[in-house]
Amino acid sequence: MIQRNLTRAKTLINQSVAKFRDVSLSRRAANSTQESPQTDNKKSKSTRFEWILFTREALRNYRTIGAVWVSSQRLAQTMASFVPLTESGLIVELGSGTGIVTEALLQHGVAPERLVSIEQSASLADYLHQRFPDVQVIKGDAQHLCELLGDDCQRVSTIVSSLPFRSLPHAVGHGIIKQIDKILPKEGLLIQFTYDISGRGMLFPHHFKRVSFKTVWGNLPPARVNVYQSEQ
Ligand SMILES: C[S@@+](CC[C@H](N)C(=O)[O-])C[C@H]1O[C@@H](n2cnc3c(N)ncnc32)[C@H](O)[C@@H]1O
Repeated sequence: MIQRNLTRAKTLINQSVAKFRDVSLSRRAANSTQESPQTDNKKSKSTRFEWILFTREALRNYRTIGAVWVSSQRLAQTMASFVPLTESGLIVELGSGTGIVTEALLQHGVAPERLVSIEQSASLADYLHQRFPDVQVIKGDAQHLCELLGDDCQRVSTIVSSLPFRSLPHAVGHGIIKQIDKILPKEGLLIQFTYDISGRGMLFPHHFKRVSFKTVWGNLPPARVNVYQSEQ
């Protein structure tokens, strides 16, 4: 019975995604070029579509999505606010989902050509690619980050991560942390959010010093943005 209802829910979500996907992208495009009384309405319809797309992915594989809702704008803006704009290196975003943090990074002032988005889910990466045509979107697993970035691996100055380390299998999380450690130069920043607001922190290497944090109580659930700096 539960299985049948779940299958029915998944089918309904799949149908909605197929139906609203193109509409959502064209609304996003229209919103960025015109201001009209209907803009807010169009925006909320795009947001609704993104919620459906995200929920479908979460139903397919909760452990890699690690959340049932997309992050709030406030959480995304808080993450973006920690990104220094004075550096020339690349900013790599891990686990971009439907692009709420990507959008906040661009609004913060990050030039699209400095931003690389890594997303494992094919449908989310495809959506990101269409939503942000000027940003380099790479569909791939952050466990192979350096390989995915190619020569750009040497040019990274900041990593902004929404990866759900607490729900990812331990070996996967460990593999990704090794890659982050390999890529981030001395004094490079890692900005990571977590739903663990206790402040115990995550299992990053000892030379990743936490230099700042902020709790976003308005997110559902409340989240904490931690900022680490590599000391070697
Ligand atoms: C918690 S969601 C965050 C989505 C979005 N940034 C937000 O804040 O709403 C985590 C995202 O990480 C992606 N992800 C999980 N494991 C990954 C991996 N190994 N490599 C790349 N992306 C991954 C998921 O597909 C999902 O889109």
